[in-house]
Amino acid sequence: MKWGWKRHPRLGVVNARRDLVMEIVSQLERLRTDAYAAIEGASTTAALEEVRVAFLGKKGSLTTILRGMGQLPTEERPAAGRASNTVRDAIEEALSTRGDELARAELAHRMAADAVDVTLPGRSMPIGSRHLINSIRDEISEIFAGIGYRAVDGREVETDYYNFTALNTPPDHPARGMQDTFYVVDRSGGQAAVRGESNVLLRTQTSGVQAHIMEEQEPPIYIIAPGKVYRRDVADPSHLPQFNQIEGLVVDKEITFGDLKGTLDYVCKQIFGPDRETRFRPHFFPFTEPSAEVDVSCGICHGEGCRFCKGTGWLEILGCGMVDPNVFVYAGIDPEVYSGFAFGMGVERIACLKYDIPDLRVLLEGDMRFLRQY
Ligand code: DAH
Repeated sequence: MKWGWKRHPRLGVVNARRDLVMEIVSQLERLRTDAYAAIEGASTTAALEEVRVAFLGKKGSLTTILRGMGQLPTEERPAAGRASNTVRDAIEEALSTRGDELARAELAHRMAADAVDVTLPGRSMPIGSRHLINSIRDEISEIFAGIGYRAVDGREVETDYYNFTALNTPPDHPARGMQDTFYVVDRSGGQAAVRGESNVLLRTQTSGVQAHIMEEQEPPIYIIAPGKVYRRDVADPSHLPQFNQIEGLVVDKEITFGDLKGTLDYVCKQIFGPDRETRFRPHFFPFTEPSAEVDVSCGICHGEGCRFCKGTGWLEILGCGMVDPNVFVYAGIDPEVYSGFAFGMGVERIACLKYDIPDLRVLLEGDMRFLRQY
């Protein structure tokens, strides 16, 4: 028989399987060494993550080796499995240690780079300020509030009746010509006013508020009415087609011209300073009788006469007078029982006089170099 030397048919198979186990174990060892080197070489957390995927990921090297284990007989598999788990655990631990190290370094680096230098001067946010016109208007309103006047609103779009007629300025009155305005509705080519019908217009003065208030409220009346007015004027150093006025009206029993003088003298000193004088010059307004214009002594030359006051020593600041009995009658107030005074001042003009501004137009130009000064 030749069996004796003949190789056992299964022995070769056994040897082949041994080789396979050995092969897998050495592959695992190589994998561990390579992974350690790659982990050591990763210089960022992102690079480290790539290393993890390359070695332990679903398509990574370890998976490839494990796939080879499928060819092992069942009894060899647990040992190979343990070996692969050991290697996986070791690699995972190395990854986590290196990961912590890198994360700490990256955090430290970010903190250093993002640090705020609190010694740098801040960037300023430009914030606006009140316009000179508004602040003067409010300043004057406060002065009147202090002596018991209520501030009321008027309407900028007004009827011919309230802007003129009720103020004792009937359609053919020459004073209308000095206050031409923008008509909003006039389907008659200007004839409606002549016929006594009311056109709609942009008010030329705040005085119309007087007529509204007297119709709405029983005396005593102590009001001011600040607001915009419009005229068909071309802008020049002393005219604007749109500007602001503050109207004032007092209606009560036994109001005299002395009350008017005392009130306006007090207000002027509050606005311009206690050393400023006032003077009352006779004038004409349709809705007051007697009427006056009020001047305040020039703040530059103190009455001597200079270029600013055109050599007179005085600056004209407002119009005023005792309410004309006709105006009371239009509004349904008995002029035998009540008397009153009224006044109207231009806000832009007062701003210019207070701050020596030679040209009204700069108030509207929006030049920051000018506006920032107030
Ligand atoms: N409304 C006048 C104007 O615009 C100013 C004025 C004058 C108002 C006399 C008054 C007043 O109340 O009594 O020129």
